[in-house]
Amino acid sequence: MKKVYLDYVATTPVDPLAVKEMAPYFSDKFGNTMSLYSLGREAKKDLEESRKKIASLISADPEEIFFTSSATESNNTILKGIKGSHMVISSIEHACIMESALWLEKQGARVTRIPVDKFGLVNPLDIEKAITKDTALVSIIHGSNEVGTIQDIGEIGRICREKNVLFHTDASQTFGKIKIDVENIDLLSASSHKIYGPKGAGIIFKRKGVDLTPLIHGGGQEEGLRSSTVNVPSIVGFAKACQIAEERMEKDLEKISRLFKKLVQEVLKIDNVYLTGHPEKRLKNIASFYFSFIEGESLVLSLDLEGIAVSTGSACSSRSLEPSHVLIAMGLEHEQAHGSLRVSLGRNTTEGEIDYFVDKLKESVNKLRKISPLCIQKK
Ligand SMILES: Cc1ncc(COP(=O)(O)O)c(C=O)c1O
Repeated sequence: MKKVYLDYVATTPVDPLAVKEMAPYFSDKFGNTMSLYSLGREAKKDLEESRKKIASLISADPEEIFFTSSATESNNTILKGIKGSHMVISSIEHACIMESALWLEKQGARVTRIPVDKFGLVNPLDIEKAITKDTALVSIIHGSNEVGTIQDIGEIGRICREKNVLFHTDASQTFGKIKIDVENIDLLSASSHKIYGPKGAGIIFKRKGVDLTPLIHGGGQEEGLRSSTVNVPSIVGFAKACQIAEERMEKDLEKISRLFKKLVQEVLKIDNVYLTGHPEKRLKNIASFYFSFIEGESLVLSLDLEGIAVSTGSACSSRSLEPSHVLIAMGLEHEQAHGSLRVSLGRNTTEGEIDYFVDKLKESVNKLRKISPLCIQKK
């Protein structure tokens, strides 16, 4: 059966060049970066080279990059490691921010959740109004993993700087895909497996002078911010993936934008289908739709039978029967949010795959609407 992967937002295949780069670190170069002998010193040197390559992608100083195991760990470390009693987040953050915020509230912190408009956009003025004298951190997702909307982090960062409040952005979906300027950003998180690197590596960009209490204590690796033996193979692979992303960014963006346009045009020819997210301020690799009279899960499973991998929303919530908190925050009714389908494109996506997907989508929608009780009731 033909296999078409259109869920690059959930995870990406590792670039073969990154796999090649990683290979020696499982055998000959297996040293521990904390060891004094040459095997360890060489691992440490390669770790620092990787840090430089990753920093270059966001024009940061290598000393401002700290390795973690994932963006989830980076986000947890940041939210739980900032000292202060009040925090501002948006209502469309990834589960790892939403859940960390809930946990912090249970510990006695105050969290303000900023609403979004129907396109999933935060109004920076709402953030300005929410900041009080005890606000320690503003944390706003850069590109939405569900609908692709990109927030104006330049302006939000400027407001935070003016108000003397730290600004963090979860850039898991934008890092390596579009240019990021860290000028007004104090903290940023990103993940390797979203940009054709291996799983098991993430970063915290932490501006010099920003104080974070570690989440994991131990041997003092990563300047004491994240103890535990450093995962050199994954970090080396992540660095290679960053280097490739930097070289290919424009070319990839151009190709993906073209495929996105075609995909959206074709899907919107189906009756009662709507595109979510901002019309312009958006990532072009994510197209999220909702279909009237159908459950997104039924569509995902029907397309899976045709060899197509897509999702209903974020990978973390797609096994839950709750409608997406992001779509609800954007004002969709529960019924509409239940009909959502997220299609995400990647470097390897072809025009032929889009054609195949659109054909199978039309067939699946027709089949499911014929047996949908919601559709029958309308007749
Ligand atoms: C916006 C966003 N933040 C955080 C994460 C978590 O990333 P990781 O899988 O590296 O923990 C994801 C992954 O889906 C994401 O899309």
